[in-house]
Amino acid sequence: MDLAHETSVLLSLNDLSCVPKVYGQVVGGSRPGLVMSAVPGTTLEKFLEKWTTDSCFHRCVTRVDFLHICLQVVRAIKSLHCSNILHNDLKTDNLMVQILSQNHHMFRVFVIDFGNATQVGQYNAYHIDPDDVREGRVTWLAPEVRRGEPTSISSDIYSVGVVLRDVQHSTGLYDDLDNLVEGCTREEPVCRTPLGEAEKRLLLRYKSLRG
Ligand SMILES: Nc1ncnc2c1ncn2[C@@H]1O[C@H](COP(=O)(O)OP(=O)(O)OP(=O)(O)O)[C@@H](O)[C@H]1O
Ligand SMILES: [Mg+2]
Repeated sequence: MDLAHETSVLLSLNDLSCVPKVYGQVVGGSRPGLVMSAVPGTTLEKFLEKWTTDSCFHRCVTRVDFLHICLQVVRAIKSLHCSNILHNDLKTDNLMVQILSQNHHMFRVFVIDFGNATQVGQYNAYHIDPDDVREGRVTWLAPEVRRGEPTSISSDIYSVGVVLRDVQHSTGLYDDLDNLVEGCTREEPVCRTPLGEAEKRLLLRYKSLRG
């Protein structure tokens, strides 16, 4: 998809606090681009990597913090869907975590990279390279999308499940997230756990652990 498309998607989401604000496009010149607010943080992928390799960071970020991050991911994608937008490329690399206060356990999640986003129900001509599918490089995409079927709310839910599974694998939050990972990544799209339900379950778990 082109930059104009990504800009118009981002503009339609400018009121959401989980999406960086977009100000416009750079046109002309050799490197066209988007002008948006910078999230002072790292991708969730790098955040998880740091947590597993940096002992100081490991001590500072708790299991409760990760549950809160997962809750924010679910809420963010739910709010995109409420704005009639599918992300279509959700993975830990396309989520950013801002550390507001490490000591006070305050983290904020942003969704980035709307290059493949579409409106809900809009036929998505999003091309996936068959080699990427064969060689297992698009594991975050739902099985029906890998087969070339259109994306949907359910295919975004599948990708949310894969993000939760990545968090689970890096942090060992097995008991807390098992049920949701299984529910969100079901093979059959209509059987996947709706994000409203996922949010309720995560909120309950988060509140009970936070005390
Ligand atoms: N608003 C932002 N604030 C800070 N960093 C950002 C922002 N948007 C993107 N980035 C950084 O730039 C990287 C690439 O951004 P993005 O995913 O939107 O582009 P991309 O063309 O899809 O690149 P890639 O192929 O690496 O995913 C992100 O992984 C992130 O590190
Ligand atoms: Mg990206």
